[in-house]
Amino acid sequence: MTNAVKPKKTSVVYFVGAGPGDPELLTVKAMRLLKKADVVVYAGSLVEKSILKFCRKGVKLRDSSRMHLGEITGALVRAASSGKKTVRVHSGDPCLYGALREQTQVLEENGVPYEIVPGVSSAFASAAALKRELTAPMGTQTVIFTRLNGRTPVPESEGLASLAAHRATICVFLSAGMMDKVVAELKKGYAPGTPVAVVYRATWKDQVIIKGVLSDIAGRVKAAGITQHAMIIAGAAIGDAALRDASKLYSKGFTHGCRAAPSATFQRNLFRSIKAVAAKVALGAKKPRGAKRKR
Ligand SMILES: C[S@@+](CC[C@H](N)C(=O)[O-])C[C@H]1O[C@@H](n2cnc3c(N)ncnc32)[C@H](O)[C@@H]1O
Repeated sequence: MTNAVKPKKTSVVYFVGAGPGDPELLTVKAMRLLKKADVVVYAGSLVEKSILKFCRKGVKLRDSSRMHLGEITGALVRAASSGKKTVRVHSGDPCLYGALREQTQVLEENGVPYEIVPGVSSAFASAAALKRELTAPMGTQTVIFTRLNGRTPVPESEGLASLAAHRATICVFLSAGMMDKVVAELKKGYAPGTPVAVVYRATWKDQVIIKGVLSDIAGRVKAAGITQHAMIIAGAAIGDAALRDASKLYSKGFTHGCRAAPSATFQRNLFRSIKAVAAKVALGAKKPRGAKRKR
């Protein structure tokens, strides 16, 4: 028997989507991982802190908003290499504007395994707050996720003006502080009366929804003092007009794998019953005045 210390097996680093804010929008998997974690590195500028209440006592918490990339990846590699259960928490879904690749690359270079756990993106939380579907039956069938040029450049071919030419539903991240520019670019494709909504901190306790149209939304957002942590959604789908059209999916006459067409006998019997009910109603309507109603 030797006294040699067995080297610790490198743990998996879990990149977890925290959802938009409301802790109830964490996935069951994310909650389970947080409960077991020894080390949690979370994006403190956007992640609602109350999700950290699921962590066990004694967990090591680190707010990545105060750290640079090397510090973040260093913390993840060190924790995982010493066998610690390690969770990296991103806001919304980690695969959207999460600066994910630059972190996973370092883990790969260091032989640290990782997994990604999806979360509810703020785009979907904002649509839910607006009580609107991002696609519209008989209308737009396309949703664009984008942002304005900031310190992170946007490729020229993906400029807002060129995306606006599609007139699809467009979700603009990271741009609420540049509303004038967003509007000027969108106007190159959308009509001035196109519905636009800005959702500040969707699902947080202080959530604010600003609704308007392309020609007045910038003023409304500025008046509300919103410059960050907000989702801009534009397009006909989020307006009231979209409600007038029904989808084919639930239309009676639309059959598909899960719902077969009613048989001819069923249709005949249904028609007979409707006729019988209509006849009864007509008879009732003809009853002389004062005739007692059956109870
Ligand atoms: C770095 S990106 C992260 C996006 C995140 N991965 C997601 O899926 O929602 C940050 C931007 O996402 C949007 N955002 C994040 N959380 C939000 C929320 N709760 N409500 C509205 N917008 C939010 C804002 O546009 C913000 O500037």
